[in-house]
Parts: sequence; structure tokens; C-alpha cells
Amino acid sequence: MNTLQNKSISTASVAATEDFAAGIAAEVKPGTVIALHGNLGAGKTVFSRGFARGLNITEPVSSPTYTIIQEYPLEQGGWLFHLDLYRIEDENAALAFGVDEYLDDSEAFVLIEWPERIADLLPEDTLHIQIVHTGDETRDIVMS
Ligand SMILES: Nc1ncnc2c1ncn2[C@@H]1O[C@H](COP(=O)(O)OP(=O)(O)OP(=O)(O)O)[C@@H](O)[C@H]1O
Ligand SMILES: [Mg+2]
Repeated sequence: MNTLQNKSISTASVAATEDFAAGIAAEVKPGTVIALHGNLGAGKTVFSRGFARGLNITEPVSSPTYTIIQEYPLEQGGWLFHLDLYRIEDENAALAFGVDEYLDDSEAFVLIEWPERIADLLPEDTLHIQIVHTGDETRDIVMS
């Protein structure tokens, strides 16, 4: 994980962000929690789409804002969980829907949009990814 944690990239297209994310998916292990930071429209869902492609998920990945969580089964077993916590007020609201069980699943990759909502619940070894809008088509993606 150390190699990933210092990785950063600038992308100049949606496709480039998706490709980068697909590459990350190929490098991380089940049980990994990834916190996707960034403003509205930064590219968190675009990143998630690329990440899903990297896991060979063929279902379309869209923003789960209205459903909070989307579950995608993996062909090798396990899951991709894609959470969008924009509408979740705080940690208690997240615990009420069982967010801790998603975070603890050792067979799942977990992507979280708006992870700030549950900052205190995130595992110690969460991979933090910040996506920064630097222009119409450009984004900086910084991992820590
Ligand atoms: N280099 C780039 N990488 C990613 N997205 C880009 C890039 N250039 C432009 N975009 C555009 O930025 C938008 C990113 O939207 P996306 O839904 O992924 O944002 P989000 O961070 O998930 O926002 P929200 O918080 O509303 O869920 C899309 O309209 C996409 O076309
Ligand atoms: Mg989104």
C-alpha cells in the first residue's frame, strides 16, 4: 500500500481518470476501503466507474446518491460496495443503515463518496484519494 499512498496524477479527460482508477483496482486487495474526497462534480463517480471496470464489473456504475449504496458482485466472489454518503447527516445515521458491516467486509472493495460524513468510522488503513478540479477537463488525483 505504501507505493500507492504516495501516488498522484493529473488527468486531462474522463477516460484518463477512469484508466487511472482501473489501474488502482488491479493493485489493491479485497478488504480495501477507499475514501473519495472532492467537491460536487470533482470526479468521484467517474473514478468509481473506472475502478469497477478494473474489477471486471460490466454493470453500469452510476451515482448511488438516492440509494446510498450499490452492491456489485465480483466474478471471483466478493463485492464492490459503492457508497455515496452525501445525504447522510452523520455517523449515527450511517450506523443506522449498517455502514460498519460494509466497512468490515474482508471480501469487499469499498468506495466511499463524501467520506467526511463518517470520518471517525473509517478504518486506520483507509486509502484516501483527493480529486481536485483544476480545469474543465483536468483533475489532480492525490493519494494518501
Ligand atoms: N479529467 C476528468 N476526470 C473526471 N471527470 C471529469 C474530467 N474532466 C471532466 N470531467 C467531468 O466532471 C464530472 C465529474 O462528475 P462525477 O459525477 O464523477 O462527480 P462526483 O465527484 O461524483 O460528484 P458528486 O459529489 O455530485 O457525486 C463529469 O461531468 C465529467 O464529465
Ligand atoms: Mg458522485
